Formats: sequence, C-alpha cells, structure tokens
Amino acid sequence: MSQRCVVLVGMMGAGKSEVGELLADQLGYTFIDTDTDIKKQAGKSIPRIFSEDGEEAFRKIERATIARLAGNKSKVISVGGGAIVDQANRKVLSSLGHVVYLRASAKELYQRVKNDKNRPLLQTDDPLARISELLEAREFYYEQADITIDTEDLNVDEVVDKLIDELAKRTIETDME
Ligand code: S3P
Repeated sequence: MSQRCVVLVGMMGAGKSEVGELLADQLGYTFIDTDTDIKKQAGKSIPRIFSEDGEEAFRKIERATIARLAGNKSKVISVGGGAIVDQANRKVLSSLGHVVYLRASAKELYQRVKNDKNRPLLQTDDPLARISELLEAREFYYEQADITIDTEDLNVDEVVDKLIDELAKRTIETDME
C-alpha cells in the first residue's frame, strides 16, 4: 500500500469513525478523527460548541484543523459530515490521498443516528427531513470522491473489506504510473 492517506467523507451515520478505526488498524496507519481534535481544542463537546459558540465558530475550528493536516502520510482521516462543503477543506483533503465517500440513503442514515444526541444539526422535530436536506445539498461534493462505497446493507467489517479491495486496485494502478 502506498503512504497516501485515506480520507473518509460522508454524512452523519455513514460509519466514518468506526470504519476509520478498523481500517487504520488493518493498514497499520494512524487514525485521526477531526471531530475528536476539535473537541480537544475547544475543551468541550461538539453539541456545546454549537450551542454556546454557534455553527460558524465550529466551522472555523474545523477549517483550521483540516488545514493543519496538509502533508500527512499513512493516516486514515475521518472528517465531520459538513467539512466537504468548504472549498479550502476539499483542496486539503484531496491533496492528502484517496478520498472515500461512505454512501447511505437518508432513511438508512436516520435509522443509524435517530437516538444519538451528539449530532446538534439533528436536534429538530423532523431529523429525517433534515438529513434528506443536508444530503441533497452535499451529495454533489461527496460524489467527487475518488472511491464510493455503498454502505447501505453492509456491516462495518464488510465496508472495510470492500474498501481495502478498492485501495489495493488503486495502489497497483498508482505504482504502475
Ligand atoms: C456535522 C457532522 C458531525 C460534526 C458536526 C457537524 C455535519 O460529524 O462534525 O456535528 O455538518 O454533518 P459526523 O459526520 O462525524 O457525525
């Protein structure tokens, strides 16, 4: 496997953190979760950053966190679902290596996150409608990923296996260039 990073993008509930940890383990790479870094920097949870400082403040820390990732090698990186909307973020993320979109439908995402209080953007009367709206607005950017894995009916192990197969193909292609 080359030393290029693997960057996981996709909506809340796509499985980025779980897949990322397992994938990093299997590749012998270090796992970085930007939301975990953001929490450490702010000294508070993501819901508290949103409620006390606002989404804009969160996006600013997110942008600075992603900018600092530039130049990394041999890492699996998971970024929050909204990071990809920002052009500067997209530029850094694609420069790091393979960008992977973990895809799932709005209905499936809703099933996965409906009881999770850690997603401030979903604390509304109709979280399914909110997920659909966000997915629609972001899909264009997610679909620019180098690799898309349809996670709809797959468990985490199956997603990781599929992704490793895809990465192996790309690495061979890259090595032959
Ligand atoms: C967000 C997704 C969250 C977190 C924040 C905003 C989003 O991360 O960054 O709550 O805009 O979709 P996950 O995608 O890991 O849940």
